[in-house]
Amino acid sequence: MSHGYVAVQWNPQKRRYDTVIAVSVAVYVAAFVAIGLVANPFATAETLLIRAFGSGAILLLHVALAIGPLCRLDARFLPLLYNRRHLGVATFLLGAAHGGFAVFQFHALGDVNPFVSLLASNTRFSSLSQFPFQQLGLAALVILFLMAATSHDFWLTTLTGPVWKRLHMLAYAAYGLLIAHVAFGTLQTDRSPLLAGALALGASVLLGLHLAAARREAAGDREAPRSDDGFVDVCHVDEIPDSRARVVTVGGERVAVYRFDGCISAISSVCQHQNGPLGEGKVLDGCITCPWHGFQYEPETGASPAPFTEKVPVFATEIREGRVYVDPRPFEPGTRVEPSRIAAVDVKGVA
Ligand code: HEM
Ligand code: FES
Repeated sequence: MSHGYVAVQWNPQKRRYDTVIAVSVAVYVAAFVAIGLVANPFATAETLLIRAFGSGAILLLHVALAIGPLCRLDARFLPLLYNRRHLGVATFLLGAAHGGFAVFQFHALGDVNPFVSLLASNTRFSSLSQFPFQQLGLAALVILFLMAATSHDFWLTTLTGPVWKRLHMLAYAAYGLLIAHVAFGTLQTDRSPLLAGALALGASVLLGLHLAAARREAAGDREAPRSDDGFVDVCHVDEIPDSRARVVTVGGERVAVYRFDGCISAISSVCQHQNGPLGEGKVLDGCITCPWHGFQYEPETGASPAPFTEKVPVFATEIREGRVYVDPRPFEPGTRVEPSRIAAVDVKGVA
């Protein structure tokens, strides 16, 4: 997000990402229909398409939900995160195609308006085997629509980061609704272990990844030790590579302590864009650059360079006998806090 930064660009990487999504979806749907026809020559094209779109959508949702924890476990997955929203939009489009075909096949041929029929033809909410599972699919589709419609950075800025983030966390509610949609729907009639096994495997992989990522973060969230005056002892100056940071947890908040141009500065490690880990970024063009989508913050103020307006809290630092200390009391986001200068004596004689 340097001065030439444009929030959303159609660069070659995004186009490649979208092409991979589109080709994979087309290959999946074609293979699903072809194998379905061979396995069951009496199946109609509509039924196979409904199943191909539905299973493809839930598969993409698994991928989208796995990317977050994968990136927290291994930075090599970060390129997948840059355009995760495109995956979300593709999930909605496939889910909408599945729902649209299903409404057409099961509700459009009677006298009742198809949407009234979808909502009202089955209200046996107390029955397990006859539960109105299609309404669950509709609820999930509404959530996926809201997420797809607000996926552009315009909505992130308009709604503000925290509200946008809360809205997009509804992906997990959509996932739960879809598991129930399939469990109360197809699984009541289709007793083959394939679909049930695939759902159980998908849920276990997602749960395992989220638990592993949470454990990794909890280990890194141990409070750093404090000196008598309340300052937090971070590490020796030499332990922070140039243009990089050491992350410490101070009063429950992650703080990125950066070394750059012979100085030390500390800002909150939580990016204003989508809570990306600023402490895992680097200093580029004099600004701390988020590793997720490139938002930038000045190390001395925690403010994004003009014309951008994002700001994160800043912390005072001190260097004592070569060790870096941080004052745990944050300054207001955007406040200028003088960086600590690294003297020759601070680095001398240390490996
Ligand atoms: C208006 C919304 C929806 C309606 C009316 C609907 C309807 C249906 C119906 C009738 C079935 C049973 C199909 C069969 O057994 O042949 C089904 C199954 C399924 N649905 Fe939905 N659905 C909706 C939304 C969704 C969404 C948004 C997703 C995923 C993102 C989804 C994923 C699935 C899956 C994975 C199955 C099981 C595989 C299959 O049989 O197709 N559904 N849905
Ligand atoms: S989280 Fe997107 S730029 Fe930081």
